[in-house]
Amino acid sequence: MDTLHPPLDRTPPAVEGAAERILHAYEGYLAAFLAITRRAEGRFLRREWRDGQQDAAERLNVFSEWVQRTVDEVGDALEDGTGAKARFAELSDGRPDCDVARTFFNSVVRRILGTRGVDRGTDFTAEPGTPLRGDGAPLFRHRDVQGVTPALFEALFRDTSFADRFADLPGDAAASAEAARETLGPKADEVRAAEWLPFLFYRNKGAYVVARLRTSSGETVPLLVPLSHPAEGVRPDAVLTDRDDVSRVFSFARSYFHADTAQPRETVAFLRSLMPMKPVHELYTSIGHHRHGKTELYRELTAQLAHPAARLEPAEGIPGLVMIVFTLPAFNVVFKIIRDRFGAPKDTSREQVMQKYRLVFARDRVGRLADAQEFEHLRFPRDRFDPGLLQELLRAAAESVRIDGDEVIIRHLYTERRIRPLDLYLREVPPEAAEAAVIEYGNAIKDLACANIFPGDLLSKNFGVSRHGRVIFYDYDELALVTEMNFRALPSASSHEDEMSAEPFFSVDEQDVFPEQWLPFLVPPGRLRAVFLDAHADLLTPAFWRGMQRSQQSGELRDFFPYPAHRRLRREGDGDGDRAESPVEAPSPNAREDTDDLGQAE
Ligand SMILES: Nc1ncnc2c1ncn2[C@@H]1O[C@H](COP(=O)(O)OP(=O)(O)OP(=O)(O)O)[C@@H](O)[C@H]1O
Ligand SMILES: [Mg+2]
Repeated sequence: MDTLHPPLDRTPPAVEGAAERILHAYEGYLAAFLAITRRAEGRFLRREWRDGQQDAAERLNVFSEWVQRTVDEVGDALEDGTGAKARFAELSDGRPDCDVARTFFNSVVRRILGTRGVDRGTDFTAEPGTPLRGDGAPLFRHRDVQGVTPALFEALFRDTSFADRFADLPGDAAASAEAARETLGPKADEVRAAEWLPFLFYRNKGAYVVARLRTSSGETVPLLVPLSHPAEGVRPDAVLTDRDDVSRVFSFARSYFHADTAQPRETVAFLRSLMPMKPVHELYTSIGHHRHGKTELYRELTAQLAHPAARLEPAEGIPGLVMIVFTLPAFNVVFKIIRDRFGAPKDTSREQVMQKYRLVFARDRVGRLADAQEFEHLRFPRDRFDPGLLQELLRAAAESVRIDGDEVIIRHLYTERRIRPLDLYLREVPPEAAEAAVIEYGNAIKDLACANIFPGDLLSKNFGVSRHGRVIFYDYDELALVTEMNFRALPSASSHEDEMSAEPFFSVDEQDVFPEQWLPFLVPPGRLRAVFLDAHADLLTPAFWRGMQRSQQSGELRDFFPYPAHRRLRREGDGDGDRAESPVEAPSPNAREDTDDLGQAE
C-alpha cells in the first residue's frame, strides 16, 4: 500500500538522521531474520532436515551482516553519538522488540565510533532493559478448560497451520491427554485454563507447541508438546509438563529455536513463566536473539559485580593449557581467556582456537556442546579479582589483559555456563551417581560422534555435568570433525626389535587416532571403568568410529531427542523406521542440588 500512496509527511531517507536510518536498517535485519525463521515450517512439513540445518547456520550470521552493512551505509551520517542515542531511544520506545532494536543500535554505533567496552553516552548496553512484562496485547491464546482432556490437545493441534497434516489428530490428542494426565497426577483435574503461543518453536526435526496450564489453586504448569514428522504424518512425540524436562529442551547446550515472532520480549516473558530459573539472557538466545542475549548477560554480570562481596576466582578443576578460566562463585558463568602461550603438547594458535569456537557456534550442538559468548574489551573492577588470579592473568595472558586505573580490561574472552567438571564430579558424588555419569560420559561422546564431532581431547576434565546430570563438553581447542580423522587399529609389532624400540614402530600422522589406547585416560580403574566398558566398549574400537564416518557420508541426519526416552509417546519400532536406532538420551543420573539460576550456586 505504501508504495502506491506514500504518506506525504514521510521524510526522505537522505535527510533522516542517523537514528532513523539505523532503525530502518534494523527493520531490514528483522525482516531477513524472520524470513529465514519462517522457512522452518516448510522444512518441517517437507522433511527437509539438511536444508533446515543450513537455514539455522545461515540465520546465525544475519545480525553481523546487517550491522556491517549499516555501518557502511550510515557511518558518515553519525556525527553525534549521544544525540543519535537519545533519538533512537524515542524511536524504539514502546516497540515490542525495543530491546533487540537497541542491541542492534549498540552494535552499529559501537563499530562506527570504535567504542571499546561500553560507552554509556552512546550505547544502551549498560542501561537496564525494559521490564519483561511490558506493553502490548497478550501474545498468547487462551482457553478455559475443566481438567486436561483430549479436547484441549485437539485445540492445540488444530491451532497449528497444518492440522490437516497430522497422522491421526484425534487419536494422538487422546494419547497426549493421557500422557499429560499421567505426569500431572491429581493436578490434571485442577487445570482451569490453557495458554499457548500462537507459533511453534522449530529446531532440527522437531516443532514444539509451547503452552502453560493454570490450575484452580493458581499454579502455572508448563506444557511442551514436541511434534515430529515421520513418513505417516505429523505426530506429537512427547508431552512434557515437568519443569526440568522443559528446561532441558531449552538447554544452553542446544542450538537456537526458530520461532516466528516479532515480539521477542513477550515471548521471553512467557518462557520465563514456564522456567523461572532460566536466565533471561539464555531465553533470548534460545529464540535466536543471541546478540541481545549477550546484552542481557552483560547487564546481569554488571549487577553481580556491583555486590561488594563479589569475587573473581580461578575456576575449580585442572587448569587449562590453552585457557585461563575464572568464575564468580555467585554467578553461574565461567570466563575463558586464551593464554599468550600454550604449554606442551599444544601446538595450536590463538586464531585456531578462536576458529574452533566459531565452528561450535555454527553447528548443531546436540545438547552436548556448551554455548559460548564472545566478548571484547570487557571491564571488571580490579578489586573484585582474587590477587593471585589477577597476577596469573597478567603473567600468562598479557596480550588480553591489562590494568587501567582501578579497572581490569580484558581484550577478548569467552563466557560459558559453569558446570561441574566431570573429573571432580566423579570424585564427589555417591557411587550410583558416578556410575550414571560415566555412562552419560560415553553417551556424550557418542552423540557428538553422531553429529560428526570428535572432541579431540576426550579426558573427563574437559566435560562437565549440568544440574540435570547431563554430560556436556566444553574444551574446544582440539575439536575436529569425525570425518577428518583417521581412526586406526594398533598394528601388532612384527618383530621383537619393533616391540622393544623406544619410538613407535609405525608411523603416525596428525589425523591418526587410536581408540584402543584411550581407556586408561578416560575412566579410573575399578568399578567405574567396568561400568563404562559395559556400556561403551564399542567406543574404544576403530570400527565404531569408521561406522560413524560412513553414516556421515550417507548424509543421514540423526535424531537427538532433548527429553528422556521414557517421555516419548511411541517408542522404537512403532511407526517411524528411522528412529529405531536413534541415539536417545539416557535418563539423567541424580542431579546435584543446584539451580539454573544465575544468582545462585551452580
Ligand atoms: N563451562 C565450564 N564450567 C566449569 N568449569 C569449566 C568450564 N570450562 C572450563 N572449566 C574449567 O577450566 C579448565 C580449563 O578449561 P578448558 O578445558 O576449556 O581449557 P583448555 O586450556 O582448553 O584445557 P586443556 O588443557 O585440557 O586443553 C577445565 O579443566 C575446567 O576445570
Ligand atoms: Mg581442558
